[in-house]
Amino acid sequence: MNEKKLLYIETFGCQMNDRDSEIMRQLLAKAYEPTDVIQIADAIIVNTCSIRDKAEQKAYSLLGTLRKRKRENPELIIAATGCVAQQEGAKMLSRMPHVDLVVGPQNIYQLPELFVKAQQLRKGIVATDMAKSFHIPPFLPSLQQGQPHKRFVTIMQGCNNFCTYCIVPYTRGREVSRKHEDILAEVSHLVAGGVKEVTLLGQNVNSYGNDHPAHSRTSFASLLRRVTEVKGIERVRFTTSNPKDLSEELMQCFTDLEKLCPHFHLPVQSGSNAILQRMNRKYTIEHYLSKVEKLRSYSPEIALTTDIIVGFPGETDEDFQATMDLIEKVRYHSAFSFKYSNRPPAKSCQFPDPVSREKKERRLATLQDRLQQIALERNREYIGSRMDLMVEGESKAADGQWSGRSGTNHIVNFQSHDAFMPGQIVQVVIQEACLHSLRGNLLPYFLP
Ligand code: SAH
Ligand code: SF4
Ligand code: F3S
Repeated sequence: MNEKKLLYIETFGCQMNDRDSEIMRQLLAKAYEPTDVIQIADAIIVNTCSIRDKAEQKAYSLLGTLRKRKRENPELIIAATGCVAQQEGAKMLSRMPHVDLVVGPQNIYQLPELFVKAQQLRKGIVATDMAKSFHIPPFLPSLQQGQPHKRFVTIMQGCNNFCTYCIVPYTRGREVSRKHEDILAEVSHLVAGGVKEVTLLGQNVNSYGNDHPAHSRTSFASLLRRVTEVKGIERVRFTTSNPKDLSEELMQCFTDLEKLCPHFHLPVQSGSNAILQRMNRKYTIEHYLSKVEKLRSYSPEIALTTDIIVGFPGETDEDFQATMDLIEKVRYHSAFSFKYSNRPPAKSCQFPDPVSREKKERRLATLQDRLQQIALERNREYIGSRMDLMVEGESKAADGQWSGRSGTNHIVNFQSHDAFMPGQIVQVVIQEACLHSLRGNLLPYFLP
């Protein structure tokens, strides 16, 4: 019997890439078993992200360290996948000649054949074609013993929005939505295998289905309803949404659907209308704030999180102050904030950018300080309240410490000498608030 070879995958970037890595592992499972130890792997996939310069550098630096490994072991297969691979194509091979395969996100389904070809040809292969009529094939995830209780389900790929700073439309192509039947089949399959929570993934889930013919179109809100109706599912989440497309139909789901978690990631990017316009975000701050208010009227407990870019080309002190004012108005439960990074061919690279690096860094630090204070203040508001948690597992920090996640997406730690299964729901009363987590006391099950 042939022994299986070992496959190591390093994943950078967003949950789309996490899900793609799972798919690649499964596609190659006939010949390769996964390993967490890169040194002993027979094949290495670096699933890259291109969203900021730093992410791209990380991918190149890991690929660079593999040059020596390939010299010592020419049989080793090295593949670069993901957004940098798509963007760079053959250029990647000239910079990294020890790489065997450069594969774009739309081409990962060809990996088994590409691996065979790479072994036979022994020269770099590039597979980055983006087909006009690309469809995400129906693909049922493998279910093993000890698998996670929560999984990602990609519902669409690509983006049509062309925010001027963003590389994603160039690396992932135009929006392609999966058929709702395929998505529901995948969710049912996962739930039958014991999965309790799914997160539906897309770069802009609100435009789900817009690329389907009108007669067979399903809106994102109706897809969400149907996913929450899958028998046995406990929790449903989704990410991410451009505020311009946030509909009342979707807001209504937060009132109606008990299984839909009360958390909304609504990237604002900037508090200044002038900057939003140059970013091509297609909403104003007034528009954004009115959507936030409406969303909270549909679901008063909803936790809001966001993404913010600091130092967009030409951002003035007043523009930055507008972002500081905005976070006081919305009071996000948490936020990711980034320093603007030039990503050619994204359009903003051509915009004049007179602001110094030091100034941008100071602005980012000021913003992050205040975002953290607000997050802590928000967390303190939960003290004394009751929360349902989905157990994640035992905490490594101390004996008898468990960790769970609330519907609002907070990590909550609690003490108990009982044993819990990941995915099990427990109730706690919150006692203490830290910046990144809460601490609660477990309630006995019989409490109403
Ligand atoms: N589709 C998602 C965004 C995915 S990228 C959405 O529209 O919400 C995740 C975040 O990275 C973005 O929200 C943005 O804040 C940040 N980002 C994207 N391009 C960037 C760039 N060129 N420089 C800095 N941050 C960037
Ligand atoms: Fe990028 Fe904008 Fe599309 Fe998000 S909506 S992926 S930020 S182009
Ligand atoms: Fe990065 Fe591509 Fe995701 S650029 S954030 S891996 S879509």
